[in-house]
Amino acid sequence: MQNNPALSPTFAEPHDADALVQVSGIGKRYRPDGPPVFSGVSFDIRPGEFVCLIGHSGCGKSSILNILAGLEQPSEGGMIMDGREITGPGLDRGVVFQGHALLPWLTALQNVTFAVRARHRHMPRHEIREKAEHYLAMVGLEAAMHKKPAELSGGMRQRVGIARAFCTQPRVLLMDEPFGALDALTRGMIQEELLKICAQTQQTVFMITHDVDEAIFLADRVLLMSNGPDARLAEDASNPLPRSRTRETMHHEDGFYTFRNHLVDFLVRRSALAQKAATA
Ligand SMILES: Nc1ncnc2c1ncn2[C@@H]1O[C@H](COP(=O)(O)OP(=O)(O)OP(=O)(O)O)[C@@H](O)[C@H]1O
Ligand SMILES: [Mg+2]
Repeated sequence: MQNNPALSPTFAEPHDADALVQVSGIGKRYRPDGPPVFSGVSFDIRPGEFVCLIGHSGCGKSSILNILAGLEQPSEGGMIMDGREITGPGLDRGVVFQGHALLPWLTALQNVTFAVRARHRHMPRHEIREKAEHYLAMVGLEAAMHKKPAELSGGMRQRVGIARAFCTQPRVLLMDEPFGALDALTRGMIQEELLKICAQTQQTVFMITHDVDEAIFLADRVLLMSNGPDARLAEDASNPLPRSRTRETMHHEDGFYTFRNHLVDFLVRRSALAQKAATA
């Protein structure tokens, strides 16, 4: 751990020197009167790491993701990515939003190719199209790629958003409950595909989820947020399971139930205690 000289002194603090993203003491206040939504949130994301954020509804998870995406400004603190302060959105960060955010006048395929073209300006057209079709097929949308968002179901739109984000291969993939609207079978399939992509490409991921088992299956580390208002990052828990885990067998791994109980206990009991302690 060491200080990053690129951080302005107001939010400089110890960080992992190898971190790709360094988040330093961020807080958010949407209204000047009243308590902040959250404050003092600091964490690192190392290259190739899969980090999940868990916490109760309203504690500020989406706000944190939007700040990382550069779509919101923190009221305090700041972030460094690749040695540069994040001050706005960038193509180096691909976002899957909690609700889909597709361009309504484009088809599913056009939505994906549009994003890939924006990020990889010199990629040949046929390569972009092949990639887009590959990722749309991966999320089970071969038959629907020429439909516009209004003609798709909620889960299908969400899957287009997922294909679009994977396809652009951003430096960091930011995902806000990306699988929440999907049926269990599709969710499992896409989770496995995501883990495969991460293993092959060393994709760095920051993902919000409500699903403890999803976090254990996907994450290297799970960040636990206390309840709001004035929520805090209460814990940074490393996943003890080996990275080669599969969904079918992970519950046989040593430490699975201990880790699972730890996360569930936090959500059921300690998230509220942590909030009281932080604001006492
Ligand atoms: N643009 C905004 N303007 C004003 N208040 C906002 C805005 N965005 C979020 N909030 C408030 O900030 C708090 C945290 O919202 P946020 O969406 O970050 O929570 P969350 O943890 O993602 O919740 P959920 O799990 O339900 O998605 C809520 O009280 C919400 O009303
Ligand atoms: Mg949210």
